[in-house]
Amino acid sequence: MSNDEDEDRALLALADSVDRPSAARVYDYFIGGETNYAIDRAFAEQVRERVPLIGEYCRTSRQFLGRAVRHCSAGGVTQFVDIGSGLPTAGNVHEVADAARPQLDTRVVYVDNEPIALAHSRMLLADTADPERHHAIAADLMEPGELWAQVRDTEILDLSRPVVLIVNAVLHFIKDQDDPDGIIEFYRELLPSGSLLVLSQMTNENPESEDERQALADLQDYYERTTNPGQLRTTGEFARFFGDWVLEEPGLVYAPAWHPDDETLFRTEPSQSRVLGGVARKS
Ligand SMILES: C[S@@+](CC[C@H](N)C(=O)[O-])C[C@H]1O[C@@H](n2cnc3c(N)ncnc32)[C@H](O)[C@@H]1O
Repeated sequence: MSNDEDEDRALLALADSVDRPSAARVYDYFIGGETNYAIDRAFAEQVRERVPLIGEYCRTSRQFLGRAVRHCSAGGVTQFVDIGSGLPTAGNVHEVADAARPQLDTRVVYVDNEPIALAHSRMLLADTADPERHHAIAADLMEPGELWAQVRDTEILDLSRPVVLIVNAVLHFIKDQDDPDGIIEFYRELLPSGSLLVLSQMTNENPESEDERQALADLQDYYERTTNPGQLRTTGEFARFFGDWVLEEPGLVYAPAWHPDDETLFRTEPSQSRVLGGVARKS
């Protein structure tokens, strides 16, 4: 048995001792995945009572990820770093990217700091992926120097060529007090010209009623009980993470308005989705 397999079994044993819901597993539950525990499901259903469409918001984020990956692949950028990749489930980046490019020239490094997500990602990759082109590592978005050194060490990517950096449905787990601006700027500086940045996050912009405004505030409070407290942001507060990179059409929008297809939830009323998304390119 390899060291990776030993490590993965040890990490999975952690599942028996989880004492708080995790954002990765709660999201997995909401989007129909199978890697979640009773504590996550109970928490998720409590959230759903207060924010009835939370499952649809999560599926909206996942759908945006798929469309963004197809868009980047179609544009010829074939290297992906997916930070906060989560638990593998339908629509993983390497599967979407490979489906978009039958020449199978896409390369993906998955990154998450949740040990159970890492273990499951490695198992999925062992079963379905090409070890020359796909890899999963454990690293923290908030420690960019260390994270990037690990990405480099995989030798999966040519970091002198354009990369798609994905931070999808993750930044709402980073509070402003923890300097996400400086962190995301660090990654923007590292990447070569022609690289793309795919970002989405949940928003508290323009609630329809006082009750919804309060429900979104409660959502933030509920997540204080998880391993991933965070904060919602308006479009203005979120736009800054793209820095001076140029937003691809249609810009930073409610995610369902970003190149919707027939499957896109909320496509007729994007602002009902409570999810913002955009893709920007480094000049
Ligand atoms: C809501 S899930 C999103 C999963 C996937 N990106 C998607 O869009 O379908 C958020 C993920 O971000 C991860 N995450 C949160 N904070 C992180 C950090 N500081 N470093 C790395 N991953 C993080 C969580 O463990 C979780 O897997």
